[in-house]
Amino acid sequence: MGAPVKNDRVAWLQGPSADCSALPAERKNPWRLILLGAPGVGKGTQAELLTERLGACHLSTGDVFRAAGKRRDCDQSPAMKAALDYMRRGELVPDSTVWEMVCERSHCILNCGGFILDGFPRTLGQAELLKELMEKENLSLSAVVNYELPVDEIVQRLSGRRTCETCKSVFHVKERPPKVEAVCDRCGGRLFQREDDRPESITVRLEAYERSTAPLIQFYKNLGLLLPIVAKGSPDEILARTMDRMDRP
Ligand code: AP5
Repeated sequence: MGAPVKNDRVAWLQGPSADCSALPAERKNPWRLILLGAPGVGKGTQAELLTERLGACHLSTGDVFRAAGKRRDCDQSPAMKAALDYMRRGELVPDSTVWEMVCERSHCILNCGGFILDGFPRTLGQAELLKELMEKENLSLSAVVNYELPVDEIVQRLSGRRTCETCKSVFHVKERPPKVEAVCDRCGGRLFQREDDRPESITVRLEAYERSTAPLIQFYKNLGLLLPIVAKGSPDEILARTMDRMDRP
């Protein structure tokens, strides 16, 4: 049997007028997950593995902003240009811009195959807006997975990260190297280092996480949805730990 078709997430990356190459299959009990954790903890890596396992769509707000950054200057709205400046510095994009962009793609969140949200919500304001949208549509979250790792290991993961410019698959020069240097194993695309993985941006991102995103842990704990997971070990070990926690009643 060949490898499953990877959803290219065109609609999520480009907006409402685009279609994906592979829509998620309709499921009776679709997984609707949020992945929380500091920048570089491994959310994107786990989202890819969980997508293969659970069939839900991997939706990353960071990927949307990076895709917008690759468009021609004249195709970027003023709000998107400002968002890209925040991102390069490692700061959070304002809630209003993030929410406008998520609303344009709300069909990705409301689809019948479920979702794995990676990098959204990132502030209490965003979490409240998502909660309202889901309540209006009569949908509920399955769980909020919170990945935990010491800061020195996070910095190591970020500084060695390489990302495919075509399919967004994530590698690490030492821990998860591609078979051929700088070439994506999955699609043959070119691997690049993200601009916000420079040391000065990493510091700003970690501060923004502590200030704005860490409070979400208590928010989802109060809702009884939080699953804390130690993010040490190989990606497959962390996936097994995550699946094990999600299987518990
Ligand atoms: P975003 O793209 O969401 O970045 P992030 O949250 O900072 O997270 P990262 O993508 O850096 O890390 P990750 O946890 O996914 O780790 P990964 O799997 O790649 O956001 C970027 C920016 O966009 C933000 O700073 C902000 O400006 C803006 N933005 C986005 N969403 C926003 C929102 N909602 N509100 C406001 N602003 C927003 O792994 C990292 C490395 O480690 C890789 O090299 C990987 O191969 C390696 N690795 C992974 N797992 C392991 C393992 N188990 N062992 C060894 N190495 C591993």
